[in-house]
Amino acid sequence: MALLFKSGSSRTPWWVEEFKRQAPKLDVRVWPETGNADEIEFALVWLPEPGQLKSYRNLKAIFSLGAGVDHLFSDPELPKLPITRVVDINLTRRMTEYVVCQVLRHHRQQPEYEEQQRRSKWQELKQPAADQRGVGILGLGVLGADAAEKLLSLGFNVLGWSRTRKTQPGIESFAGMAELPAFLGKTEILVCLLPLTPETRDILNARAFAMLPKGASFVNVGRGQHVVEGDLLAALDSGHLSHATLDVFRQEPLPADSKLWRNPKITITPHCASYTDPRTVIGQVVENIRRAKAGEPLQHIVDISLGY
Ligand code: NAP
Ligand code: GLV
Repeated sequence: MALLFKSGSSRTPWWVEEFKRQAPKLDVRVWPETGNADEIEFALVWLPEPGQLKSYRNLKAIFSLGAGVDHLFSDPELPKLPITRVVDINLTRRMTEYVVCQVLRHHRQQPEYEEQQRRSKWQELKQPAADQRGVGILGLGVLGADAAEKLLSLGFNVLGWSRTRKTQPGIESFAGMAELPAFLGKTEILVCLLPLTPETRDILNARAFAMLPKGASFVNVGRGQHVVEGDLLAALDSGHLSHATLDVFRQEPLPADSKLWRNPKITITPHCASYTDPRTVIGQVVENIRRAKAGEPLQHIVDISLGY
């Protein structure tokens, strides 16, 4: 029995070291050095090549190396096997740090002050209190719920939008497409923490941006495909939106000739809001392999019919 591993990132040596330390008996095959493909029974992967997983005929389960699973469902030949994803305290904490940092940056008008500094302009801007600021989170799942809780503790007026209604104390819950306009209408700082599915692709388009109050700002940590880029640029150009912070893009790495790089109203980070930490996640992988072999239900299983 072997585990196929593919991270596609510079963190691969860290994973290899952690596997040796935490699970020295586990036969880990680091892609593309897979050896005898028939020995591979489990795959812990990020963005496998389309058709790659189908070639392992003894594969029993697929473990997404991230919280998202869209990188798996984009493979038209994905084998029909159980799929799990990462739910982990360190991934959640890193994401909450990023979201709180960017929401505070927008709330405290840091992009405007940075622009003033470039012009040596000394001018205090009117500053609303946190409870006068509506922060709306699209996706109130594992990551959205934690960010919402921490933003609430800072005094923000926090709203959340999800497929099903939530009862998280202090958070105003909006559910389903019918309630999206009411949610957007109250949201001055919008955070996207949705999974990418056919229902959520292109959800942030001209119509959605127009529903936000004038001067609203936007933080995207979901996926680039949630956003219609041309509509975002138009909303920023017209001044309807004040600023956007983007961590995820339709094409990654973001091509050097993308207009997004040069827009002064856009802050870009290279899909680094959070990531999977081998120190805590290898234990989950080992446990899921044990469960699969024992015929027990896997942890953090993905609902294939919902796509997340
Ligand atoms: P999750 O626990 O599955 O939560 C997803 C949330 O989105 C749930 O609240 C779900 O509603 C809601 N949702 C899904 N489809 C919807 C729809 N059609 N309409 C309304 N709401 C919908 O996922 P998570 O662990 O929080 O992760 C969320 C996403 O963050 C990932 O899929 C990934 O794309 C992104 N991510 C980005 C980074 C980064 O570094 N930028 C890192 C990790 C993850 P219900 O609660 O009603 O099911
Ligand atoms: C990263 O984007 C993840 O889905 O974990």
